[in-house]
Amino acid sequence: METTQTTQPAQSTDAETSAAAGFSLHARIEEFYTARYDEVDRLSRDAVGRLEGERTREILTRFLPAAPARVLDVGGGPGVYAAWLAGLGYRVTVVEPVARHREQAAAHGTFAVEDGDARALAQADASADAVLLLGPLYHLVDPADRARALAEARRVVRPGGLIAAAFITRPAPLVDLCAQLRVNDDDVYERLRRLEETGVNDEETGFTVAHFHREAEILADFAAAGLPRPRLLGIEGPLLPLLASRLVEDRPEYVEAALRAARLAEEHPELLSISGHVLAVAQTVPHGAPDGR
Ligand SMILES: C[S@@+](CC[C@H](N)C(=O)[O-])C[C@H]1O[C@@H](n2cnc3c(N)ncnc32)[C@H](O)[C@@H]1O
Repeated sequence: METTQTTQPAQSTDAETSAAAGFSLHARIEEFYTARYDEVDRLSRDAVGRLEGERTREILTRFLPAAPARVLDVGGGPGVYAAWLAGLGYRVTVVEPVARHREQAAAHGTFAVEDGDARALAQADASADAVLLLGPLYHLVDPADRARALAEARRVVRPGGLIAAAFITRPAPLVDLCAQLRVNDDDVYERLRRLEETGVNDEETGFTVAHFHREAEILADFAAAGLPRPRLLGIEGPLLPLLASRLVEDRPEYVEAALRAARLAEEHPELLSISGHVLAVAQTVPHGAPDGR
C-alpha cells in the first residue's frame, strides 16, 4: 500500500499541497472525504456515531481547561466538535486540509477555520491552551509523520496545556466486520487476518488510508514527540459490537446502555481495544516543573 510522505515535503503532484509548509494530504484521503463519504453527520446519523460523539464530548469536558480557553482543533473536519466547543464559550480554530470540510466548518460561523496540515502548523509557539487531534493521527501511516504532528501540537500548546488525540484501535475493523457477520466471507476473513499483522487499513474492506493502533504504538507516538505518557480512555466501550452489528434496532435505551458500559470500562486495560477509538490525553509539563523548561 502506498503510504503518506515521511519527514520530507512531498514530491507528488496528484495531492493537494497544504498551505502551511508543503506537506501533502494523501490524494486518496482527499478523494474519500470529498467524493465518497460525507463526514458532516457521522456523529449523529446512527447509534454508533452518537455513542462516539457523546463519549468524546464527555471525556473532553473532563480534561479541557475552562472556557474561554483557546482550542486548536487540528483535523477538525466539518467542525462538529468545534461548534459544540464554541457554543460553550471556547475560542476555537479548526485547521483542516480538506476543502469540503473547511466549507462545512465555516458554515457554522462561530469559530475560525484555516487550511493546514497537522505536521506543519502555522500557529505560533504556546498559542493554544488545548490542541485536539481527533482524526489526523490515524490517517498518518508513517510513525515519523505522527511524531511530527504530535511535536507540532506540543509546540503550539502552552506549557501545562492539554493535548487530546484520537486513535482507531488495531482490532476495530475486526470487531466491526465480525459484528456484522461479514467474517463469514472468506475474503474478508483473510483481509482481517492480514490487518492484525500490519495495522494498515485494507481499503477493500472500507474507509481510506489509515493506521490502526495498538496501545504500545500510541505510547510510542507520544514518546517520539517528547510528550509525557498519556492517559488512554476507550471511547465507545464494550457494547460497541452490539450497536455496530445492525442486528438490533437503533433504540435510545441501547445507546444509554452502551454509554454506561463505556464509562465503566474506559480505563480497563483488557477492554481498551474493544472500543473503536481511544482518546489519549496528556498535559504538557508547565514551566518550572521538574521536567519543564
Ligand atoms: C474522521 S475525520 C474526523 C473529523 C473531526 N475531527 C471529528 O472527530 O469529527 C478525520 C479528519 O482528519 C483530517 N486529516 C487527515 N490527515 C490530516 C493531516 N495530515 N493534517 C490535518 N488533518 C488531517 C481529515 O481531513 C478529516 O477531516
